[in-house]
Amino acid sequence: MPAILLLNGPNLNLLGTREPGVYGATTLADVEARCRAAAERLGFSLEALQSNHEGALIDAIHQAGVRHRNGELAGVVFNPGAFTHTSVALFDAISGVKPLPVFEVHISNVHARESFRHHSYVSPAAAGIVVGFGVDGYELAIEGLARRIRAA
Ligand code: DQA
Repeated sequence: MPAILLLNGPNLNLLGTREPGVYGATTLADVEARCRAAAERLGFSLEALQSNHEGALIDAIHQAGVRHRNGELAGVVFNPGAFTHTSVALFDAISGVKPLPVFEVHISNVHARESFRHHSYVSPAAAGIVVGFGVDGYELAIEGLARRIRAA
């Protein structure tokens, strides 16, 4: 069974208690459990990693690229958190492991928030983007990834 990697960046370990008016009350553990169930329904296993460190996220993307080449990993669903708006290095990492599909997810509608959240360094390298559906966006991205793979 090929795997999907659910990757979460900085501060997303605080889901559930962090600004619940913006990000909701669901914890990261609950998000991961829901995503695991969604992935398994679609015939994939789910691996989940959260890190507050840019380099650890880059390493995870590189490893995902190797595993995608080996046929072990179908793709990545990635919420880069605030690194979305700052990280040329994440853009380079995702660009450097193509054709690994990386779907970018944001819980909140970043375009309806502060202007510094309007630009994403990640989006030009992403296979698709899900923004503003709350934590449901993660499952929507998994569904979209599965459809993309079936269609290919
Ligand atoms: C976020 C949006 C980012 O702007 C913010 O820094 C986050 C979460 C989201 O999921 O809405 O940490 O990626």
